[in-house]
Amino acid sequence: MRISIAADHGGFALKQQIVPFLKELGHTVLDRGTNSESSVDYPDYAIFVVRDIVSGEAERGIVMCGTGLGISMAANRHKGVRAALVQSGEYAKLSREHNDANVLAMGGRFTSLDSAKEFITIFLETPFEGDRHVRRIKKIDTTEI
Ligand code: RB5
Repeated sequence: MRISIAADHGGFALKQQIVPFLKELGHTVLDRGTNSESSVDYPDYAIFVVRDIVSGEAERGIVMCGTGLGISMAANRHKGVRAALVQSGEYAKLSREHNDANVLAMGGRFTSLDSAKEFITIFLETPFEGDRHVRRIKKIDTTEI
């Protein structure tokens, strides 16, 4: 799979450990930064992954900030992106089965490497269930206020 990944400074350390893990699994990784612990703004990095997903450059995305909250909010502002902030294997599984999540969000300051590996493996391997969920995820992009 082609996987786009980005983090702010709060997710940087975890990203650095995840990139080699993804490569070991045989995936092509588009590492969109950040590339140091220096403070940056998470929306500036979410947008790199959003562009890769919306353009079809990547099939899946992974985003991280300190909590995963800000960067998932930023990613979810864009049509066609379904970013799931995951803190358990069950959430990773359901985000795929029910929501067809195409972006996995994690909190770099709250997620161990072992947990991140577990969430990523489930996120990449679990298929979307389709059926009634197709109607629901369509409404995410089509419902207007
Ligand atoms: C940066 O300190 C922190 O606010 C950011 O990484 C993230 O947790 C925001 O949601």
